[in-house]
Amino acid sequence: MIAINKVNQLYGGTQILWDLDLAIEQGSCTCIMGRNGVGKTTLLKCLMGLLPISNGEILLDGEPLHKKNAEARAVAGIGYVPQGRDIFPMLSVEENLRIGLPIRKQRLKMLGREDDSAEIPEKIFTLFPVLKEMLHRRGGDLSGGQQQQLAIGRALVIEPNVLILDEPNEGIQPNIVRQIGDVILKLNEEEGLTVILVEQKLGFARRVGKEFRLMEKGRVVASDKMANLNDALIRQYLAV
Ligand SMILES: Nc1ncnc2c1ncn2[C@@H]1O[C@H](COP(=O)(O)OP(=O)(O)O)[C@@H](O)[C@H]1O
Ligand SMILES: [Mg+2]
Repeated sequence: MIAINKVNQLYGGTQILWDLDLAIEQGSCTCIMGRNGVGKTTLLKCLMGLLPISNGEILLDGEPLHKKNAEARAVAGIGYVPQGRDIFPMLSVEENLRIGLPIRKQRLKMLGREDDSAEIPEKIFTLFPVLKEMLHRRGGDLSGGQQQQLAIGRALVIEPNVLILDEPNEGIQPNIVRQIGDVILKLNEEEGLTVILVEQKLGFARRVGKEFRLMEKGRVVASDKMANLNDALIRQYLAV
């Protein structure tokens, strides 16, 4: 469903991604793993259209995605939860969630579905009840874990086909890590949402991921089912 072919990316004169190839199947839950600085976040930003690629191609169901801007990619169904969450601290929870509604409107139109984009979908509050309780609080007043739930909720407002999460559990208390894992599993297994997850924590990756892709120096160096992520690979590409 997503094919990244021979992608190169440079920050100024420094090349970060090198002829990177990556294939993601529809309905899969794929963990992108690798040590700090190998280019995981850069890859996700290229996929979302937040960074330009120098060459190569990114295809969604065979259609070139790399020529579209980030907004058009969201309309095409890519939901993105950035590393560090990036919610708007001065806006309320409700306002943060509403930001996705214009994209939802465009997407529902494209899908030929009824336009219900006047309101935040109730499903978001079913998945994350705390967001309903906190609806009128400022984003910046939420705990780290609640902000992460808000960032995931905001990405789900657009009704994505593909949900990209960049280290959603960084600096979050264990009970919320578990809740976030439950939500990802539910969306992937019950609704068939395709998930691409950057995750450093092995336990979480194994619980939630069905596939892994290991990165080193801006390339994907190993791809397999999660069950085949063995100690040798962990030592070579993950251990610090
Ligand atoms: N805005 C930027 N400008 C220049 N270099 C960057 C920028 N962001 C990241 N880098 C560099 O790109 C490399 C990959 O970073 P990143 O994609 O964030 O890695 P990861 O997410 O795997 O930790 C690192 O060497 C980092 O220093
Ligand atoms: Mg990163």
